[in-house]
Amino acid sequence: MSRPCLNTRNLAPRRVLVLFAHPALERSRVNRHLVEVARNVPGVRVHDLYEAYPAFNISAKREQQLLLEHDAIVFQHPFYWYSVPAILKEWQDIVLEHGWAYGSGGTQLAGKLTLNALTTGGPEQAYGPNGWNHFSIREFLAPWEQTANLCKMKFLAPFTVHSALQYATAEQLAPQLRRRRPRS
Ligand SMILES: Cc1cc2nc3c(=O)[nH]c(=O)nc-3n(C[C@H](O)[C@H](O)[C@H](O)COP(=O)(O)O)c2cc1C
Repeated sequence: MSRPCLNTRNLAPRRVLVLFAHPALERSRVNRHLVEVARNVPGVRVHDLYEAYPAFNISAKREQQLLLEHDAIVFQHPFYWYSVPAILKEWQDIVLEHGWAYGSGGTQLAGKLTLNALTTGGPEQAYGPNGWNHFSIREFLAPWEQTANLCKMKFLAPFTVHSALQYATAEQLAPQLRRRRPRS
């Protein structure tokens, strides 16, 4: 009788890469707390893009190697003009190469998980069909969702801390961090 085969791939702990983008960390109230929390989680590597590339000279090879070494990719950033800080757009343009991330033979990211972890100045009720911003955070992130689809990644719901400017201390922020699955 053959023995049952245990698929250990499903049991392997996930290696998480946080691609962090904040252009003015010294003025940050929330992201700097979030990123400190992330740095202390075993299996999580934080990669600060503005620190690594102050002149935006992003290395595709270095970034691609980091992506290959991780199973889940988190883009952490403040929400700027309903989108991301500029370096993340540059990162996409440089790193997600045709034939590597998408297109013919471009399967290097297939199966990896991805999500955006972001902070907004606006309150939660501002985001949605009845709010003054008219669209949900998930809808604003449609280009990120479709980019993930194109790269055959699994796009997860965003982690959002709304009304970020109201958190002056780490203690005030703590209940937000304990929320297991914030709504988008
Ligand atoms: C250039 C710029 C654009 C911004 N655009 C938005 C926006 O579109 N929607 C929003 O809710 N907040 C917006 N904000 C507020 C930031 O999202 C907020 O200051 C940030 O999330 C706070 O996080 P931090 O304390 O880590 O900096 C913007 C702030 C700046 C500086």
